[in-house]
Amino acid sequence: MPRGLFITFEGLDGSGKTTQIRKLDAWLKARGHETFLTRQPGGTEIGDRVRAILLDSRSIGLAPMAEMALMFADRAQCIAEVIRPALEAGKIVLCDRFTDSSEAYQGGGRELGSEMILNLHRLVCGDVWPDLTILLLPGFEPSLNRARRRNKREEKQTGKNEGRFEAEQDGFFRRVWEKYREIAAREPGRVALIEGDLGIDEVYEQVVEIVSERLVVAGG
Ligand code: TYD
Repeated sequence: MPRGLFITFEGLDGSGKTTQIRKLDAWLKARGHETFLTRQPGGTEIGDRVRAILLDSRSIGLAPMAEMALMFADRAQCIAEVIRPALEAGKIVLCDRFTDSSEAYQGGGRELGSEMILNLHRLVCGDVWPDLTILLLPGFEPSLNRARRRNKREEKQTGKNEGRFEAEQDGFFRRVWEKYREIAAREPGRVALIEGDLGIDEVYEQVVEIVSERLVVAGG
């Protein structure tokens, strides 16, 4: 299929992905690239309804298999409605989380294993796979504390509690963390790992360097 460039951002909750995506989006636009920004779960109207079920802390009884299936339902919608058309139009698609999140959270965190996630990806998403994934893994404790604080703040402001994942125990996030490292080791050509407790600007410098190299390879 005629393609733009598909870049995903991954990391633990509170790793600063969203800030970096916004900064990269502005950097690319300033250089004349057409970009399309999206996220998972969510990113489409239907996906946002699926997201509400997935993140609402009242969805207490959601079975791990149902959670995984909903993540892929959301992803299928996002691919059909926005990702594939944007790539076909030659745009650079920046997506906040993608299948690596399912492998890390459902495969690792919920212990469903990688194989099921990767098989489901092939069935549901076919050949749509990121050209480049930027994986942010700052220190474990600081990211979790940031995510939990942010969730409390948002609950106060909006009355909504979207913290079903943030409420998980540390052991869950350890497994997510380990699975992310496993993915990075398995796919060094696709996954660029940025580790350690760096400031926003230091991370951003690395992001720009990684993306610039990739743009040269892609001829952009
Ligand atoms: P979100 O509020 O978007 O968190 P963040 O800003 O940290 O990305 O919540 C998304 C949550 O959904 C996050 O805890 C990770 C989880 N998730 C999965 O468990 N599996 C998936 O496939 C995806 C896309 C997200």
